[in-house]
Order: sequence, then C-alpha cells, then structure tokens
Amino acid sequence: MTKDAFISTPMKKINIAIDGWSSCGKSTLARQLAKALNYIFIDSGAMYRAIALYFIQNQIALNDAVAVDNALGNISLSFQKDPQSGSNEIWMNGHNVERLIREMDVAAKVSDVAALKAVREFAVAQQQMIGRQKGIVMDGRDIGTTVFPTAELKIFMTARPAVRVERRFRELRAKHPEITMEEVKANLESRDLMDSTREVSPLRKAEDAIVLDNSELSPEQQFALALAWANEKINS
Ligand code: DC
Repeated sequence: MTKDAFISTPMKKINIAIDGWSSCGKSTLARQLAKALNYIFIDSGAMYRAIALYFIQNQIALNDAVAVDNALGNISLSFQKDPQSGSNEIWMNGHNVERLIREMDVAAKVSDVAALKAVREFAVAQQQMIGRQKGIVMDGRDIGTTVFPTAELKIFMTARPAVRVERRFRELRAKHPEITMEEVKANLESRDLMDSTREVSPLRKAEDAIVLDNSELSPEQQFALALAWANEKINS
C-alpha cells in the first residue's frame, strides 16, 4: 500500500435547508444535525424575531417605509456560541436577545414584520453571506426556495396542526402557566396563514425538498432519518 492511501481527503461540506410550518421542531432537528456533522446551526426565524423585537422596542410603524429602512440600518445581528449550552444564540446590537425573542409579544408581531420586503432583503442578504462558507444547517420558511436554492439537502417539515399546538403549548406553559391552548392555537394558525400567503418568499416546499412529517415520529427517529439523508449527500 502506498503512503498516499493513508492521506484522507477532507469531507465534503454541504448546506442543509430545513423549512416548514411553525412549531414542527425544525430548530431541534437543525441543531441535532449541526452537532452531529460539526456544522453551524443558524435559526433564521431568530433573525426575524430579533428585528420584530427592535420594532416593538422602538415603536416602528410597519407602514412607514422610511422608518423601517432607518431602523434596519440601526440593527446589527450576529450569532454567538453560548459557552454553557454550546448552541448558537442571537445577539442584537451588543445584547443577547435569545430569550426575549421567544416571548408572546414578539410571536404576535413577527409574521407581519417578516412579510415586509425590506426586512426580507436585509435578512436574506446576511443569511446568504453566512451560507458561502458551507457546512451550514439553516431552518426557516424560505431557505430551500430563496436563501439557498442550490442547497444539497432540503427538508420540508410538517406535522398535524393538533400535534403542533400541543407541543408549543407544553413548551410555553412551562414559562407562562396562564397561557391557554386556544391562544397558542390562534397564534399558530395566524402565523401559518401569514407565512404561506405573503407576497414575498411565502412558505412553500421547494420542488426538490424531501417531506418529513413527524406527527408520529420521536425526535430520535426523525434525527436518524435526516442524518442518513445528509450522509448520503455528503458521500455522493
Ligand atoms: O421559526 P420561527 O417560528 O422562529 O419564525 C418566526 C417567524 O419568522 C415566523 O412567523 C415566520 C418568519 N420566518 C420567515 O418568514 N422566514 C424565515 N426564513 C424564518 C422565519
């Protein structure tokens, strides 16, 4: 055997786009895949949530195009690894806003904010820049269609609405015992409607995306499936 046989070629890096309805577990799967493959996980929804938070804090009127443009010019977003959890958290203008952006006031506003063309252009440009380095797992609504149309692996996640409401309710109730199932259901339904019917980059499955319905799957089962798909693409 020659010496060259021991020199291994570096593993090919791909981009993985995960899209789908709200509360399907997209971020959980994206985080698991990134960890297993030693890739970088980017939660694109966190960017829209942070922008929505800024608009709430600074009382930006969404119908005032100049105010929106000025506000975007004042927003600086970055992802930084939390030393304790090891996961990427979002920072806005020097503050970690990972927890604040998960509150209900942001959830109630984010779909309206994410529907604005100027906001989408602002976020998509940054997402595409991140994607240039490859080895990215990004989840969102338009990653396979608009952000990374040439991503090597695209997964479109879905689950029955009742299953999604139940999961989100359990997650939110831990922090907000007063929250009702009806409130969670109404928020999910309105976000689904807004996200899939907006003019710019609506939520839709890319033609070449694999559908993953996880209504009846455990997180371990869906992870095993997705990891196998990723390894297939990496080794092809
Ligand atoms: O994934 P999430 O629930 O954190 O996303 C928050 C909102 O942002 C959601 O209502 C849709 C929007 N969003 C989007 O329009 N495009 C993306 N790529 C990601 C999220």
